[in-house]
Amino acid sequence: MPGIDYSERIPNNVDLAGNRRLQRALEDWQPKFLEWWHDMGPVGFQGNEVYLRTAVSVDAQGWAHFDWVRMPEYRWGIFLAEPEASRLINFGDHKGAPAWQDVPGEYRGVLRRLIVTQGDTEPASVEQQRHLGKTCPSLYDLRNLFQVNVEEGRHLWAMVYLLDAHFGRDGREESEALLQRRSGDADKPRILGAFNERTPDWLSYLMFCFFTDRDGKYQLASLAESGFDPLSRTCRFMLTEEAHHMFVGESGVQRVVQRTCELMREHRTDDVRKHGGIDLATIQKYINFHCSVSLDLFGSEVSTNAANFYTMGLKGRFEETKKDDDHRLKDETYTIADVQGDRLVTRPEAALVSLNERLRDDYVADCARGVARWNQVIKQHGIDAELKLPHRAFHRAIGAFADVKVSPDGRIISEAEWDAKHLGWLPTAADQAFVGSLMQGVTEPGKFAGWIAPPPRGINSKPIEFEYVRLP
Ligand SMILES: [Fe+2]
Ligand SMILES: [Fe+2]
Repeated sequence: MPGIDYSERIPNNVDLAGNRRLQRALEDWQPKFLEWWHDMGPVGFQGNEVYLRTAVSVDAQGWAHFDWVRMPEYRWGIFLAEPEASRLINFGDHKGAPAWQDVPGEYRGVLRRLIVTQGDTEPASVEQQRHLGKTCPSLYDLRNLFQVNVEEGRHLWAMVYLLDAHFGRDGREESEALLQRRSGDADKPRILGAFNERTPDWLSYLMFCFFTDRDGKYQLASLAESGFDPLSRTCRFMLTEEAHHMFVGESGVQRVVQRTCELMREHRTDDVRKHGGIDLATIQKYINFHCSVSLDLFGSEVSTNAANFYTMGLKGRFEETKKDDDHRLKDETYTIADVQGDRLVTRPEAALVSLNERLRDDYVADCARGVARWNQVIKQHGIDAELKLPHRAFHRAIGAFADVKVSPDGRIISEAEWDAKHLGWLPTAADQAFVGSLMQGVTEPGKFAGWIAPPPRGINSKPIEFEYVRLP
């Protein structure tokens, strides 16, 4: 396996130099990407050196190399995980056949759509987060934000590589379109709903990393199982980067909770707002919002698309190869959530059409583990309170629950009850204004905003007061 060639204009471990047509296509796209980064990437700080991780090879020693980089000079490149010798297609109708190295012609359109949909989320999140720099709670957090941003940019490169390398002219057109859609734009929005929401403040951002980026982790993990080997290898490497994004979300919210608990104890009150903290009730509302919009990203509970992706061998289940069944699922059933009259129920459904719901189950279990760790912090402070994931039917816009009103604890309620109570369940304009009022940039090394606790340790064994972003 060759290391990553940094003498190239586009760092890569796919022997780009050996494929002149592809190299030209990507070199043609590169300045357009930089233009997009300039226009839609982080506002400010583009000339500052940031202590960033850059992959210098895909093995354990090389993929987490830290150095000072100005963001526009970050070496965005194309890195695929090592090939697995004689890898097979592990599920669906083609199970047991050699994994595809080229796009199977009959699935070309479907595969392209899957790649474009994944690819679209990457620049979308950068766009959503672009204004956060000036209100960062610390240099440590600012650096983490930029690390996530440059890596989402790299994930866009990863998907564009697949489009350009394997889908010819329409792939190149899709690559261009990925730079033209804009998060939240009425005329040319990003493809998926949650990626058009605003990320106006750092609490929203940390929740986004925890909930919405975690959807990305689960989508990538299912695509990493793909019978289309280049997609699998691309997603496997993306997942190593994604782990940091999960860390930013979970540890970030945990530090907010910790600070809140400290203030609650110090001032013997639940109402920590007047002491510059974010009360647990508000944190709960943000959880309710970000969890519910992220649950929608998995799609309908019953989905023939999901069944087709699986049967075609394009998108597997989370940890497909660790599962002990026939990996075809034609005769299997799966328990899904549904509405019956005025009740929320679970019922058996054919396993193939239930794959979205199964992935959502894996995701919810993962989210629940994170929330349990947050609750540990509350408990350690001797506080009798608990954060909770909302019921999966709460505040949904896609699937079986889109047309019913449901409370966070999972009761179907009337429109009247929803109208009377939803302001207690979701962030209101006043809540957002309050959280917004706390967002004052803190950029002195080692200092942290009053609403978030410092992390237990710094990045790459550096001290917490390290100058993670060099400001003039
Ligand atoms: Fe990503
Ligand atoms: Fe991510």
